Amino acid sequence: MTEGQARKRLKELTMEIRIADQQYYQDDAPVLSDAEYDALRKELLALETEFPQLVTSESPSQNVGAKPSGKFGKITHKVPMLSLDNAFTDEDVAEFTVRIKRFLNLPQESVVEFTAEPKIDGLSAALRYEKGVFVSGATRGDGQVGEDVTANLRTLDTVPQKLLGTDWPDILEIRGEVYIDHVDFDVMNDAQIAAGKDPYKNPRNAAAGSLRQIDPSVTANRPLKFYAYTWGEISAPFSNTQMGAVEAMARWGFSTNDLMKAHESSRSMIAHYNAIEEARAGLGYDIDGVVYKVNDLTLQERLGFVSRAPRWAIAHKFPAEKAITVINDIEIQVGRTGALTPVAKLEPVTVGGAVVSNATLHNEDEIKRLGVKPGDTVEIQRAGDVIPQVLRVTKDGDAPSFVFPTHCPVCGAEAKSDVDAKTGRVDIVKRCSNGMNCPAQAIESLIHFVSRRAFDIDGMGEKQIELFYERKLVNEPADIFTLEDRNSDIQLEKWEGWGDTSAQNLFAAINNRRSIDFDKFLYALGIRHIGQGNANLLAKHYLAWDKFYHEIQSIGSEDSLAWTELMAIDGVGIGAASAIKEFFHLENNKTLISNLLRQVSVIDAVAPSADSVVAGKTVVFTGKLEKFSRDEAKAKAQSLGAKVSGSVSAKTDYLVAGPGAGSKLKKATELGLHVLSEDDWIALIT
Ligand code: IVH
Repeated sequence: MTEGQARKRLKELTMEIRIADQQYYQDDAPVLSDAEYDALRKELLALETEFPQLVTSESPSQNVGAKPSGKFGKITHKVPMLSLDNAFTDEDVAEFTVRIKRFLNLPQESVVEFTAEPKIDGLSAALRYEKGVFVSGATRGDGQVGEDVTANLRTLDTVPQKLLGTDWPDILEIRGEVYIDHVDFDVMNDAQIAAGKDPYKNPRNAAAGSLRQIDPSVTANRPLKFYAYTWGEISAPFSNTQMGAVEAMARWGFSTNDLMKAHESSRSMIAHYNAIEEARAGLGYDIDGVVYKVNDLTLQERLGFVSRAPRWAIAHKFPAEKAITVINDIEIQVGRTGALTPVAKLEPVTVGGAVVSNATLHNEDEIKRLGVKPGDTVEIQRAGDVIPQVLRVTKDGDAPSFVFPTHCPVCGAEAKSDVDAKTGRVDIVKRCSNGMNCPAQAIESLIHFVSRRAFDIDGMGEKQIELFYERKLVNEPADIFTLEDRNSDIQLEKWEGWGDTSAQNLFAAINNRRSIDFDKFLYALGIRHIGQGNANLLAKHYLAWDKFYHEIQSIGSEDSLAWTELMAIDGVGIGAASAIKEFFHLENNKTLISNLLRQVSVIDAVAPSADSVVAGKTVVFTGKLEKFSRDEAKAKAQSLGAKVSGSVSAKTDYLVAGPGAGSKLKKATELGLHVLSEDDWIALIT
């Protein structure tokens, strides 16, 4: 390479690295994989070594410590970091309080106290204290495992290094929100602009990017704040109420929110919500709603969790923000399950602090209902992290009406609507009928397979999957795991943008995932209706993959025992059960799974709290329970590791029968099963 060529290439590399840095640091939305980024830097360093006269002070090689590697250590949350269910209307809030009393078997006229506090729009973090000293801090991550950002959190004034007072538990994990307030955000952006850089989009993105800096001295210069609102692992309880707990946090030196108040009725909670909404613009920091929590911690404990959110809390969201813009085009996207989804490509517009250029149109009926077509001016809305929606056409363009395709725009196969076998109802969604032979479905399935909540393969994302698929190197999941063996032919390290390190890193990341939990494996298969929640229920029920697979294979008719068992799993509905049956009976899928199992092993699920006498037992509740609501009894049994079933069979271990029990009790007696009263049951489990 001549010096001239090197100068030109160095310029290009500098630009590419700058853009990547910006995407990573400022937008918190990296586009390049770590491997791709590393390859750029490697090429730049090699050229600079060869042509030292071309090194300038502007070169990325001169900015020490700015290298985003994404290589934070991992911290497993001892207590998972959950999310919150949402309420959008006053009725939703009233219904929430009714539901809670019903679950607790309390009369509706009784008083249950709730706290209400602003929902700050930042990112959550968990701070661990041992004997009052800050020892580690993590991001939420996927709720189970977060990133170790201890050094960065240490730089925040609002993260005490040592707790005040002495009445804290020896092990104390405080959780709360990391955010940037409006004044600081404006100052930060002024400085950005003065330095000729692009301003940050919103305080949330700026906070996320600032916390995830590899170099803590960069974080130290960012105006991050932490506000405490809950806790994770603790060695001893430190309050009886939510309010008391937050007051204790304030005594120990944490910032807490002074708009938090306790209420005795949904009416007063809503009045508080309205007051906070009114004050919103002047608060000085972004909030996107109000969080209500049951104040009494004993009641919180009884209420427990449903999949990924507590039953005892809810986020009352502020109404969505709206904007007017023009639809440039309507694009049909084909998803993992073949669904054809129309997406409005919009003239970019800012709504509630974010630039929006796509909005979903859901399906063909929605397009007809709205009467929308390219060229129309429309009103759109964006609520929090929900995909923006088109609300209505405000001005007609003059294009002819939109014709929804009858065939898959990607592979050309016919697009069909499912017909419900029982009701005969035709689904409004059209699906490509070509299964995994459709490149869009295959690629989307593979992307889902490697995604964070599934196989979580570092450095393997949308771009890499598309590349491997296009080159016919990865057609199905198992192929990912044979890439390294085939590399003498593939020579990944020689591909543009790749190098030895990035190729080796990818293979290492793949090899890291050769054993995987049952629920993640099942979720990764991308079966319709099998999200994380259902995958978890199924794994907890069958425990071993082989057992599950064998049982599902043995489902013949809808009255087979295996089918009855699947349908009886509490929380698994008919849609999910049918999808499971269908998926595992398709020859293509059986081959796909056996190929995959030659590469990876599935780790059995563990029955929760095996030390309980009812762990692993199957329980059926029938008749009226008097001490607990049916829901609480079920939830309690499940938390002790029992399986709750809706129907009695020879596999039932206990039938808990209250007054008014009928056919189930009769059947259990005929089968000679163990029948318990509610009191017997309570005695058994306590
Ligand atoms: S309580 C188990 N309180 O909202 C419940 N969360 O949508 C834990 N958030 O991940 C959350 N302000 O990042 C709680 N006052 C508040 C909050 C709050 C903001 C965030 C938090 C959480 C997300 C759930």
